[in-house]
Amino acid sequence: MVTIFRNARLLTMDPALGSLGEVPDGVVVVRDGRIDRVGPRTEVLGDSVLGGSEDVGSGDTGRDDAGSGVGGPGESESGPEHGDWEVVDCAGGWLSPGLVDCHTHLVFGGSRADEFRRRLEGESYADIARGGGGILSTVRSTREASDEELVESGALRATALARSGVTTLEIKSGYGLDVDTELRMLRAARRIGERTGLRVRTTLLGAHALPPEFAGDRSGFLRTVIDELIPLAVDEGLATGVDAFLESIAFDAEECRAVLQAGRDRGLAVRLHADQLSDGGGGALAAELGARSADHVEYTSLEGVGAMAKAGTAAVLLPGAFHYLGESRVPPVAAFRQEGVPIAVATDANPGSSPVLSMPEAMSLACIHFGLTVEEVWLGATRIAADVLGLEGEAGVLVPGARADLALWDMEGPTDLVYWRGNAPLQGLWSGGRRLRL
Ligand code: NIG
Ligand code: FE
Repeated sequence: MVTIFRNARLLTMDPALGSLGEVPDGVVVVRDGRIDRVGPRTEVLGDSVLGGSEDVGSGDTGRDDAGSGVGGPGESESGPEHGDWEVVDCAGGWLSPGLVDCHTHLVFGGSRADEFRRRLEGESYADIARGGGGILSTVRSTREASDEELVESGALRATALARSGVTTLEIKSGYGLDVDTELRMLRAARRIGERTGLRVRTTLLGAHALPPEFAGDRSGFLRTVIDELIPLAVDEGLATGVDAFLESIAFDAEECRAVLQAGRDRGLAVRLHADQLSDGGGGALAAELGARSADHVEYTSLEGVGAMAKAGTAAVLLPGAFHYLGESRVPPVAAFRQEGVPIAVATDANPGSSPVLSMPEAMSLACIHFGLTVEEVWLGATRIAADVLGLEGEAGVLVPGARADLALWDMEGPTDLVYWRGNAPLQGLWSGGRRLRL
């Protein structure tokens, strides 16, 4: 099956083309779910029937009936010898890679709306957590939820993200905190990918909080994570990454190191919730372990930034949590830039600190609160986020060989996506070459 997207302004994110890799009158040829060719119309289609010039910026939108067949097998020089093909007229819209949300906690039971209300009335996130609320309240609800409830509610949230342009998302465990529920969460995450047609990467976040049954026995809990949970999750192929929460209300550096090393030894990519509410040396620990990313990083020191730069560890900024928790300390963005630390942006979608189900909103918040540029947030929500998930050249870019995950936007230019909030101008979304009906 071949699909030709034409009459598009491309945001390829191809570093070889600089900036956002823009191609003003571009074409993407998709073959069997992967990008086959991409570039200017004149180069890709030449003087074939489909290569005729057209006014970019006029014509029908791609929203309805994009994909009506033009020509047919053998009728065009650019057509395949055999099989179906179709043309999508992008009508001068902007075609980018599907957005990549590289940090979410989308699978959970229950609601924390009541805690949100309490925080509005003055209680702090950390106080609520210390009082048995926070993450532990979601743990109780998640343990009670059935597999189907976890899949059903998570799929609804994933679909909301897709409506904001997301085709690849990471989902963490961490609300089970017992072996059975953690594995159920990871299986639910996998099924959400199958049900929605989105690509889901899964991360084992066993060391998220100390569950009540292990109160007073921190090392007992960590042994369970290291000796039971990680091996079982790896043997069942349920996770691609391992994560931990390094914070005074969660686990210290030594505890996180032990868990992350155990995951790494079994082939999992390392991530770390680092320096969100205080400087716990998270940037340096992530770097020491060769982590793909340190996430949150509001309090990361300059030493930590330097270590991350040397190790090639990316910073994943999570402005939703910063925004909802009313934080004031911003991540050391200038130092990340100066040292060349790659910066990604994600929703951190979760029921407590970041009830955010839109990547463009997260991107907009990153611009407003953290001072990222339009170019930085687009790259941080596509190519760099894909790299954080180990999907280099596979997601977050429009280059030959990548999976055909495409988002078609009705906007004047890339700034529009982060300028207005509340109405992502998405006209069409394709995952692995298949159009998603959202
Ligand atoms: O990334 N920081 C730790 N974990 C989540 C919050 C989880 C929760 O409050 O439920 C986060 O913000
Ligand atoms: Fe998180």
